[in-house]
Amino acid sequence: MKIFSGTANPELAKEIAKAVGVPLGEISISHFPDGEISVKVLDNIRGNDVFIIQPTSYPTNENLMELLIVIDAMRRASAARITAVMPFYGYARQDRKDQPRVPITAKLVANLLVAAGANRLLAMDFHSQQLQGFFDIPVDHLYAAPVIVKYLREMQIENAVVVSPDPGGMKMAYSYSRLLKSNLAIVAKQRIGPDEVESYNVVGDVAGKTAILVDDLISTGGTLCAAAKLLKKHNAGDIYAAISHAVFVPAANDKLKQAPIKEFIVTNSVPLRISPAALPIRILSVAGILAEAIIRIHNNQSVSSLFIT
Ligand code: R5P
Repeated sequence: MKIFSGTANPELAKEIAKAVGVPLGEISISHFPDGEISVKVLDNIRGNDVFIIQPTSYPTNENLMELLIVIDAMRRASAARITAVMPFYGYARQDRKDQPRVPITAKLVANLLVAAGANRLLAMDFHSQQLQGFFDIPVDHLYAAPVIVKYLREMQIENAVVVSPDPGGMKMAYSYSRLLKSNLAIVAKQRIGPDEVESYNVVGDVAGKTAILVDDLISTGGTLCAAAKLLKKHNAGDIYAAISHAVFVPAANDKLKQAPIKEFIVTNSVPLRISPAALPIRILSVAGILAEAIIRIHNNQSVSSLFIT
């Protein structure tokens, strides 16, 4: 087995390799003066089971292209099997043709990965689970929930209600509410533009309860801000946010400072683009769970049994 890292999240890759117990493979990734990416795999990988760790977070296009080029290099270097490890799958939100003349970019990315030579995908908390169906290669889909729920349980929150900030996140919120044995509520959201949302109603009882907003990702913060403000209007108590992918854009900082959210509980699936000192943020590591999945894939063991909690 060989594990390589792209340049998107080397810290996470180092943690994963350490947990697996193998050194990171040697690879050189640089740029030509005109911006083209240059890759050279420095280790012999002929006949190896290769894992490439690369979340396609900001800069999304650069990180995606880099991943495709690394996969191509591995394929041409005769790797026996190539697994793209994408702790965060960029473009996952563009997964349907909900307006005329728009692309399904999540599917395009799936096609590109396979065309480059990926034999498997290891991913975490897709925006929607159906995305697995975009691939005709095996996909192992992990959840950050075991890591986040462990932390929430340690907080011993009483009278909690798990809240989905939009109808699309209902399934995820439902599984958190089951794991935490808590109530469930949902906020009705309308997206007015790419960075503007309106939350207009809460379904479920949140008054006097500690609300845990659960979402797959936070970007501009618009969704969580609007939901948290609405929950306060409905007399919720303390509000926490549990988010798998901390895709914060720098502008989210000011907006989120105003939000009535006591703590943002996120994972290290992508590197933070805002200072962790700017907001009350708790970063939990998903390296252990990714490492365990890599070991099991390599040994042909069950990955789903990782999630029996
Ligand atoms: C939307 O369906 C997603 O699950 C997130 O709620 C959303 O993409 C977060 O984006 P933002 O922070 O920009 O509102």
